[in-house]
Amino acid sequence: MAKTKIAVLISGRGSNMQALLEAAKDEAFPAEIVVVASNRPDAPGLAVAEAAGIATEVIDHRDYDGREAFEEALDSTLKMYGPRIVCLAGFMRILTPWFTERWRDLLINIHPSLLPAFKGLHTHERALEAGVRIHGCTVHYVRPEMDDGPIIGQAAVPVLPGDTPDTLAARVLEAEHKLYPQCVALACSGKARVAGERVRLQVREFGAELLMNPHD
Ligand code: GRF
Repeated sequence: MAKTKIAVLISGRGSNMQALLEAAKDEAFPAEIVVVASNRPDAPGLAVAEAAGIATEVIDHRDYDGREAFEEALDSTLKMYGPRIVCLAGFMRILTPWFTERWRDLLINIHPSLLPAFKGLHTHERALEAGVRIHGCTVHYVRPEMDDGPIIGQAAVPVLPGDTPDTLAARVLEAEHKLYPQCVALACSGKARVAGERVRLQVREFGAELLMNPHD
């Protein structure tokens, strides 16, 4: 079966991008990464993508006058590669409704918390401050509101005694690296479709560690 072309947008380390890249090496994975784009020229993830032979692009937001001009440039660059789905993987620019609506139901994000809890930054610090016992990550379709939109999948991890923001972040990140490829695969194979602002999943079995919506 033809693979779905995806673009991955990063701003930094790119470990989630790398998890997608590793997953995409499998013949059975339904997506191929056609381009990795960064808004920061110094993003370490760019070298990782290049080393894997993936096309990379830098669209430096500082070169543009305003968010829309930046997003228009980003959009035209992406279009050159013809992705059907765009995955945000540690992409640290807020996107305007112009962009998110243009890619409605085709734009996916990973966020390091169990949404709708802890939207925004510093999620691990805030989870520890709140004293939650369970934390995790969420993959969702993007809506104009930040860290909002139909949830494809979530993975939970325990908060353990003595955790620091760093130890908790590391545990969540490990879960992210499993969750993101699984959710991207579901989206690319048409098994995670948006219906009425929820994601309808067509899967027989869930990975044991994934808390996909059991009601779908
Ligand atoms: C991840 O925790 C992701 O959930 C968040 O930003 C971080 C990016 O890490 N959106 P990396 O660049 O994928 O390593």
